Amino acid sequence: MINTWTLYQAETCVVWSRFASFIEVGGRTGLGFRDTSQDVMSVVHTNPNKCRQRIVELLRAQVSSGYGLHLFDPDWFDEEKRKGPTFKSPTIAHAPELRSVIHGIEHVCSDDALWIVVTCCEYVKETGDVAFFDEVIPFADEGEGTVYEHLKRSLDFSAEHVGRDGICLGLRADWNDCLNLGGGESAMVSFMHHWALRAFVEAAEFLEQKGDAKRYNALADKVKAACEKQLWDGAWYLRGFTAKGLKVGSAECDEGKIFLESNSWAVLSDVASPERGAQCMDAVDEHLYSKYGIHLAWPAFSKPNDDIGFIGRVYKGVKENAAIFSHPNPWAIIAECKLGRGERAMKFYDSMLPAKQNEMIEVREAEPYSYCQFIMGQDHTAFGRARHPWLTGSAGWNYTAVTRWILGVRLSFDGLIVDPCIPGDWKEFSVKRRWRGATYAITVKNPMGVEKGVVSVTLNGDAVDGVVRAQAGGTVNEVVVVMG
Ligand code: IFM
Repeated sequence: MINTWTLYQAETCVVWSRFASFIEVGGRTGLGFRDTSQDVMSVVHTNPNKCRQRIVELLRAQVSSGYGLHLFDPDWFDEEKRKGPTFKSPTIAHAPELRSVIHGIEHVCSDDALWIVVTCCEYVKETGDVAFFDEVIPFADEGEGTVYEHLKRSLDFSAEHVGRDGICLGLRADWNDCLNLGGGESAMVSFMHHWALRAFVEAAEFLEQKGDAKRYNALADKVKAACEKQLWDGAWYLRGFTAKGLKVGSAECDEGKIFLESNSWAVLSDVASPERGAQCMDAVDEHLYSKYGIHLAWPAFSKPNDDIGFIGRVYKGVKENAAIFSHPNPWAIIAECKLGRGERAMKFYDSMLPAKQNEMIEVREAEPYSYCQFIMGQDHTAFGRARHPWLTGSAGWNYTAVTRWILGVRLSFDGLIVDPCIPGDWKEFSVKRRWRGATYAITVKNPMGVEKGVVSVTLNGDAVDGVVRAQAGGTVNEVVVVMG
């Protein structure tokens, strides 16, 4: 699944983008700012040129105040294509005024431009194309800036659009298109803001931009403190607040008491303390897990509530209203890896793995090799039925979760790190990784039967301090990692 089908599916998402399907929102949102950005970050190693093209298209669709355009056609921002004789500004039937125009804050998705920060960093870590940070790209509305400047605008936009207590505003929606908190606040976006800030600080330090590293590090500390103060509900993290200040995703709520996105992102973003992180992910396991994967929320909403958003108008157990939404499932796997719980990470991975559902295909009703956008949740009569294969962020994120977090092969700007998180009964595994023209034949040994922890790393027989530096192109290098 990982080396063939999931990678193929992830690449398909980058190549086709969300244009390929109306139901996957291509008909509504064009390229899909957030989805394309996430898909790209998972396959920078296999298709760097296509990924670079997509990144540039996305950055061209960022306005100078920092947000990403929710609705856009990349051709509209390409001077050459716009000048061409065949260029026709596309429109869509139900909202022609929204296509290919620079929209205002009312249509901004609060998460969109944060993804691109990490995507650009991953692209540079993979390729070593450090000069990319200096490439000048126009903003969609006016002016231009280097890629590095674009990333700062993304981070600044989120810092400037916060509510009373320092939590990011929900705006039109965040990743969850059916939570429309508007003037309310989104926990997920504040967690994401912290994640993107830390990634940017790593880049700024690497580029020796000391002033920026200090400034954005201080901002990350502030965001983290606000999250820990405002968002802990007692046993898990809230999903946010409505504009009226009511909690979303709290044990106090009648419906939608707990959400997957906010809890996995609390851990994935490094905001949660180890204690709170373990507690909130235990709650995810207790309330949201099923044999077909992890539900998005519990219990499902049964009545419309426009303060929370469209979610209450969706059938129970379908899509965002408490289906087993595939895209956030691998976030929970990564969260478990961050907590060092390899057994739980594999349990989550196995539950949604299409191939594992081949024995229940009469329930699944979809290919056993493609992730689908969602699986009907427990509140639906068709519990377990999968829908909308192929174009889903779960492909790229599952690929990332397995390769970078379970197998633990990740990159820094100048080194390769192997830090697995596996079930304790895995005795040994091997990975072949190609990076910047060299091959790394990695063997991981687990003599003590641990789930996480590395006691030694050798490169071609010599001990290294945990980070394997880039080796000459064309070389084949043996890396041995001992867990314990
Ligand atoms: O997966 C997301 C996606 O980014 C766009 N719309 C549907 C999903 C969740 O709302």
